[in-house]
Amino acid sequence: MSAPLPEAPMPNNEFGDFQTPIELARALVDTLPRREWTRVLEPTCGVGNFLSVFSEQHPEAERVGIEVQPEYAAAAAIFGRVITASIFDFDLARDIAWTSAPGPTLVVGNPPWVTNSQLSVLGSSNRPARANTQNARGIDAITGSSNFDIAEFIWIKLLTEFADRPVTIAMICKTQVARNILLHCARHSLPITGSSLRPIDAKKWFDAGVDACWFVVELGTDTTDHTAQMYPSIDSLHPTNRIGVVDGLLVANVDAYERSKQFDGTSPLTWRQGIKHDATAVMELAENDGPRTKLGASVDIEKDFLFPLFKCTDVYREKLSMVSRWMIVPQSHTGDDTAQLADSAPKLWKYLTDNGPALDGRKSSIYRNRARFCIFGVGPYTFAPYKIAISGFHKAPQFRMVGPYDGKPAVFDDATYLLPFEDPAACAVAHALLTGPEANDLIAALAFWDSKRPVTKKLLQRIDLAAIARATDPAALRERAADAAAAHGLVFNKASLTHAVRLARGLPL
Ligand SMILES: C[S@@+](CC[C@H](N)C(=O)[O-])C[C@H]1O[C@@H](n2cnc3c(N)ncnc32)[C@H](O)[C@@H]1O
Repeated sequence: MSAPLPEAPMPNNEFGDFQTPIELARALVDTLPRREWTRVLEPTCGVGNFLSVFSEQHPEAERVGIEVQPEYAAAAAIFGRVITASIFDFDLARDIAWTSAPGPTLVVGNPPWVTNSQLSVLGSSNRPARANTQNARGIDAITGSSNFDIAEFIWIKLLTEFADRPVTIAMICKTQVARNILLHCARHSLPITGSSLRPIDAKKWFDAGVDACWFVVELGTDTTDHTAQMYPSIDSLHPTNRIGVVDGLLVANVDAYERSKQFDGTSPLTWRQGIKHDATAVMELAENDGPRTKLGASVDIEKDFLFPLFKCTDVYREKLSMVSRWMIVPQSHTGDDTAQLADSAPKLWKYLTDNGPALDGRKSSIYRNRARFCIFGVGPYTFAPYKIAISGFHKAPQFRMVGPYDGKPAVFDDATYLLPFEDPAACAVAHALLTGPEANDLIAALAFWDSKRPVTKKLLQRIDLAAIARATDPAALRERAADAAAAHGLVFNKASLTHAVRLARGLPL
């Protein structure tokens, strides 16, 4: 299942009205294959910015626009024949009434930037009939949600209604929409012979905070290809990567996936998320000659409940050499009753009850019907002395090995994922496996770095460390693990390393 849509920019109105600046339209048209276009269609053409570029560059082409807002349609009419209609009620294959002979056909433009749920909030009827969305799209199957981008519906309508002829479709859309479309085309065997994506700076051109792109798709009778060439910018000449659908899955790097797909399985070790408490001011303390609150007040509580805390940014930037924060961990399991702290840890109990209102005010429903001071993401793994940690937020995979600080295990925030270990040698071997070329390729294939959380627990859980261990020379693995352990200050003997490598390979000991 592909990712749900990212937060869409709030549309200017129910028409998802972001007219394309003419310089951008020109730059985008320049990237298209040089062809003698005989027919150019701009669906949802607004004031006709793309039609205008074609009236300059291809005056001989028959130019047609479709636009729902009559004032825009009138403005666009100087660049071609503009039909005032809603695209949703229009059969593209039947209703355009081309006057030119069939020839190279281009569909170009920038469909509305608005989602189905935004239209619901606006009480707008400017959307496809429900039955149509279900037929054309299978919304839930593609995005995993009934919220979808109207542009996505328009893409699918164009691809479906033009599937019987060679047509190039080139439109601005959210990057997530382009990915959903690739997956849709693969699942529905649409005859795409090639496609490409170029990132667009949506903030600069549209003042919209989303990842957008120029997505160009060729429909035709040649061999079907459901991968898209990724160009690093609008004007770059060479693609740097290929995203696409391999074995029914959408991957961020097709070549890396081909190299690493035998390691795409299930991790024999369980990844965990760091601790979630939603009460930073209470549960997190600064180290400043002992634990202190944000306001600098010294906190005197039982030391057994204080753990060195590292945040995802510390993990990413490797700021792990000394303890600058502590986290209060009042439970060993989320289910523990925190009332027992009144007897077992009276100083902690007093601190928590003094700060009771802040903890009681935690909004998330997960705290409802739970112990008063409960936290999430806590279990035996929290107290394992050795860990491998990775930030879920940052744009490059950085796995860190972390040992105990003065005998205390480190804990992490909930934007960090971790693997727990009792044995430092096992930790070093897993680290060597996660940082080798096989895992690197698999992560490059599975992570979409423009996502808010590119590294997820689900992704990490797919890295089959045992398969990587079996494909790696044991001596080389031992050496890499020993080097990594030395760099992270982890100490163990040679025999335990040999043992850990055999264990990782799934061999009898
Ligand atoms: C993102 S703007 C792009 C306009 C133009 N293509 C451009 O690139 O400058 C989207 C346009 O779609 C039009 N639109 C919205 N809903 C429509 C519909 N149901 N049928 C046709 N046009 C529609 C809006 O009025 C708006 O002009």
